[in-house]
Amino acid sequence: MSNPNYPRHVAIIMDGNGRWAKKRMLPRAMGHKAGGDAVKRTVEAAGALGLECLTLYAFSSENWKRDEGEISDLMNLMRRFIEKELEAFLAEGLKLKIIGDYKAFAPDIVEKLEQALDRTSGGTRTLAVALNYGAQQEIARAARLAAEEGSIDPESIEKHLYTADLPPLDLLIRTSGEVRLSNFLLWQAAYAEMLFMDVLWPDFGEQHLREACETFAKRERRYGGR
Ligand code: IPE
Ligand code: IPE
Ligand code: MG
Repeated sequence: MSNPNYPRHVAIIMDGNGRWAKKRMLPRAMGHKAGGDAVKRTVEAAGALGLECLTLYAFSSENWKRDEGEISDLMNLMRRFIEKELEAFLAEGLKLKIIGDYKAFAPDIVEKLEQALDRTSGGTRTLAVALNYGAQQEIARAARLAAEEGSIDPESIEKHLYTADLPPLDLLIRTSGEVRLSNFLLWQAAYAEMLFMDVLWPDFGEQHLREACETFAKRERRYGGR
């Protein structure tokens, strides 16, 4: 099952829903819906590949710049997704974690998310979802908390990142061919391997994740040494 050369912690910038829809002359909302199906497939695949932690970028702190209609489609999708998939996550032994300021979402979503956090707290593998997440905001917050405790250094900041209790990030994937981080896990990416894949998120599946893990397994990590 789990390959010792595979990453323990994989994070994905799930990009390309809009382009997927456009290619099919469908509304953007259909791209997001198909993106939701890809999330399901990928979560299952991560389990089958034996990954300890999968972190998914679902909504950035900058995505509020999108028009109201698209934001409301994304919020409705999230509501339905939690309701529909929670039991499956429980059955798969997943522990849900949220990174980002999710409390800014509508009260009913916050409540659903917190119920899901509660109900999955016994899980063994982690599914971390980035919601209203921005890495610069995360780092500023961690630095503020570290300062309140008296010292600002890499260790004291790291301790206050949302990801403090997760395994170190091994592999960061972005789909859709864009080659940028868009304010995702800037701190954690310091020594992560990066992989930019030419597949639109709604087309992503087990084969892509397996291929990414195989690529990772062949990389040589040096961490500044030689
Ligand atoms: C990613 O797909 C989903 C979110 C950012 C919520 P996009 O909506 O960014 O798709 P493109 O980049 O327009 O194709
Ligand atoms: C990053 O994608 C955010 C998510 C995937 C949730 P964007 O589509 O928002 O990023 P930019 O705007 O292309 O940099
Ligand atoms: Mg995009």
